[in-house]
Amino acid sequence: MSNIENKPLLDKIQDVSFRRGIVFPTADIYGGLAGVFDYGPIGTLMRQKLINFWRDYFVKSEGHYEIEGSLILPPKVFEASGHLAKFCDPLVQCKECKSMFRADKIIEDKIEQNADGLAPKELDEIIAKNKLTCPSCNGAFMNAREFNLMLKTQVGSVEGNVAYLRPETAQNIFINFKRIAHSMRAKLPFGIAQVGKVYRNEISPRQFIIRVREFEQMEVEAFFAEEQLDNPPHFEELADELLPLLTREMQAKGIEKGKDVTVAEAVEKKIIPNAAMGYYLAKEKILFEEVGINPELIRFRHMLPKETPHYSGGNFDLEIKLSIGWTEIVGNAFRQQHDLISHEKHSGTKMAVQHTNGNVIPYVIEPSIGVGRTLYCILESCYRETKDRDWTWFQFPPTISPYDVHVYPLMKKDGLEEKAQEVFEELKGEGFEAVFDTSGKIGKRYARADEIGTPYCVTIDYESLKDETVTIRDRDTMKQIRVELIDLNDVLVLLLSGEYAFDEIEDIISEQQK
Ligand code: GAP
Repeated sequence: MSNIENKPLLDKIQDVSFRRGIVFPTADIYGGLAGVFDYGPIGTLMRQKLINFWRDYFVKSEGHYEIEGSLILPPKVFEASGHLAKFCDPLVQCKECKSMFRADKIIEDKIEQNADGLAPKELDEIIAKNKLTCPSCNGAFMNAREFNLMLKTQVGSVEGNVAYLRPETAQNIFINFKRIAHSMRAKLPFGIAQVGKVYRNEISPRQFIIRVREFEQMEVEAFFAEEQLDNPPHFEELADELLPLLTREMQAKGIEKGKDVTVAEAVEKKIIPNAAMGYYLAKEKILFEEVGINPELIRFRHMLPKETPHYSGGNFDLEIKLSIGWTEIVGNAFRQQHDLISHEKHSGTKMAVQHTNGNVIPYVIEPSIGVGRTLYCILESCYRETKDRDWTWFQFPPTISPYDVHVYPLMKKDGLEEKAQEVFEELKGEGFEAVFDTSGKIGKRYARADEIGTPYCVTIDYESLKDETVTIRDRDTMKQIRVELIDLNDVLVLLLSGEYAFDEIEDIISEQQK
């Protein structure tokens, strides 16, 4: 391709996102605000599709309850959760230009050493030993210190009436646990889910939507009685799924890629904490494949002891190999009884619920998926520069593509536009996400559809007026087939199901018509 720029993939994805209405820098016309982004019309459609897919697959199909909690919460919640005392990142400041950085990221970037979870003193030692200096001005650093990531606000007119923006959706679930259990007459095991905005005052937001200060999480807190952890509902359905697991031993040997192990084997050999976590890991892998991520690029990494909170019974992050390296996209934590016990202690509200032989405080498995990071992975995974066309395009699967189909008249005259409009209205009425586009030459319109990853284009031409047929163009192969207008709906349903190759579809239709 002639006009493809030679720059890092992340920069290309960012440029394309700005140009094609996927993501925009917030308050751009006023110079922006670091670490926050707005979703444009295309990004919003994709975001909704992703969330709906998660909602169907992670929430509704499991019979979990979904809630929508407040974004602002009183300090007591975060005293109990430990966020006010411990939700910190290590900060270093340049003595010269006063710029601030995350100390562990400076070390990772400059000497490619994982410094996650190290104490400020340990970070200072590595910085001194390797003579690391400020990336902006080369100045020396002051000592590292802990920086709390909570975003504070004031509620009402009384000075000092502080509240915090939630840094995770999980806490609304824990503080509402008792009410939800009672009002829904829930029996263990059950899950409570939430999707929504969270806020973290990241020291150095970076890498487009990968590390930002405002983002969305899709979280499930799944509650189990202790004896149910190794016997979760529907386990057998996913027991044979392969999980690419990266154990601590493999990490110590410098191995990067996970080794495929069935969920059942991972549970039996105690590689993962329990079957309940194995079940959710398998679901995540399936979700990521369905939205267009190459499964070869996925691994589940056992967090090292220094990265794991003291109360955890084992954390396994789902990481994806991006152009910027392996990146955490989902945090999976076995939080045990920590949160409920802590809220019980701080609030005085009993958190135990009735179970077979009396009251128990349940154990918690938490799959926490970042919406923005997942969308970035999809963008990177589906981005295409190919010799067969002069434009870059996205090969989104229909599960995530913003639109199903674009509808065009070949020309805007001779009744073609009216006929195309009719077809468009019919498809919309049938529930397809359709776009009607009449502007510019047909080739340009196909290019515009490719650029936002629309899988199919339907064109109404002069033949359509004579014999009630239309062409369908396939984004991936750029091939076209002609189908009877009366079959268009069925053909699109078959194509969007993803079960058939475009080449097969004509045969399938003629077979069905016999
Ligand atoms: N309740 C558990 C929890 O919040 P986490 O690992 O801190 O766990 C979960 O966050 C997910 O949220 C991450 O795996 C990531 O996808 C996303 N995430 C975390 N910090 C982020 C940030 N600064 N910008 C964008 N996404 C972030």
